[in-house]
Amino acid sequence: MKRRNKVLVTRRLPDPGMDLLARHFCLTTGPADSPMSNKDIIREIRDCEGLLCLLTDNIDAEIVRAGKKLKVIANYAVGYNNIDVTEATKFKIPVTNTPGVLTETTADLTFALLLSIARRIVEADKFSRQGKFIGWSPMLLLGHDVHEKNLGIIGLGRIGRAVARRAKGFGMRVFYYDLSRISDDEEKTLGVEYHTLDDLLKKSDFICIHVSLNEQTRHMIAKEKLALMKPSAYLINVARGPIIDEQALAQALYEKRIAGCALDVYEHEPAINKKLLSMDNTVLVPHIGSASIETRTNMAIIAVKNIISILVDQTKAPNTVNPEVYE
Ligand code: GLV
Ligand code: GLV
Repeated sequence: MKRRNKVLVTRRLPDPGMDLLARHFCLTTGPADSPMSNKDIIREIRDCEGLLCLLTDNIDAEIVRAGKKLKVIANYAVGYNNIDVTEATKFKIPVTNTPGVLTETTADLTFALLLSIARRIVEADKFSRQGKFIGWSPMLLLGHDVHEKNLGIIGLGRIGRAVARRAKGFGMRVFYYDLSRISDDEEKTLGVEYHTLDDLLKKSDFICIHVSLNEQTRHMIAKEKLALMKPSAYLINVARGPIIDEQALAQALYEKRIAGCALDVYEHEPAINKKLLSMDNTVLVPHIGSASIETRTNMAIIAVKNIISILVDQTKAPNTVNPEVYE
């Protein structure tokens, strides 16, 4: 019988994904509850045809080169800044991601964060649990309205658009900034207005970030950009931490130059800036944008299907981020 292809999975995924993998491949799986070290990945990757990795794995050039038999790298995420795609492309290794399935789930979290920070939900919950609720009070925990406010979306990709659709339900006026402007018709259908980044920052009451991380977007929001925001505005980031200069953000909040922030991602993940942790006008969640049972299961299946396309069906993977490898 023909030898089964070997796949390294750096961390156990939801069962439907693991089951599908086990049906087709010989598996090596990393530890259940902690990341696999690069050293261990390098040792295991030598005789694997496939790699299924997480956004917390730093798949650098050394790993790519150690994978002498590697034919596919499937990331269990839509973002793939954790992989040296240039190096993989050199060796004609397709790199795949999981777009689409997590769009609505991540947009849901954006809105959960937006509402939480505006209406002080986390503070209010803490207040109740501490037994401080002794009666309705005219000035207790006043926040800000969300409906009919200006929402600025930085990056109108799939997730940015899903957020725009939600904002319409709240009667918000929606601005967007992106490298490329969509057509007039699309703008009308979606109900969004294009602005330069600076204008968007000046005019929005809520600003949310939905661009991917790359050398152009790293520290896109730093001191000068934060200074353009209204003192009453909130910043929300569910994309990647390093898009914001976290130190500058903490300082702006500390000096009350902006009203608050709600973050799902951090510049030095999993570490969170101490100043941000010490303030009340921040909501800080641990990178849970796609964390619903349904979506994490769908992501696992998509990641595995990408591997099956390459290793079993010997065809192009549906979600290849470096399609030039097929040329
Ligand atoms: C999560 O951050 C992802 O990129 O899927
Ligand atoms: C990711 O899915 C995006 O393009 O927003």
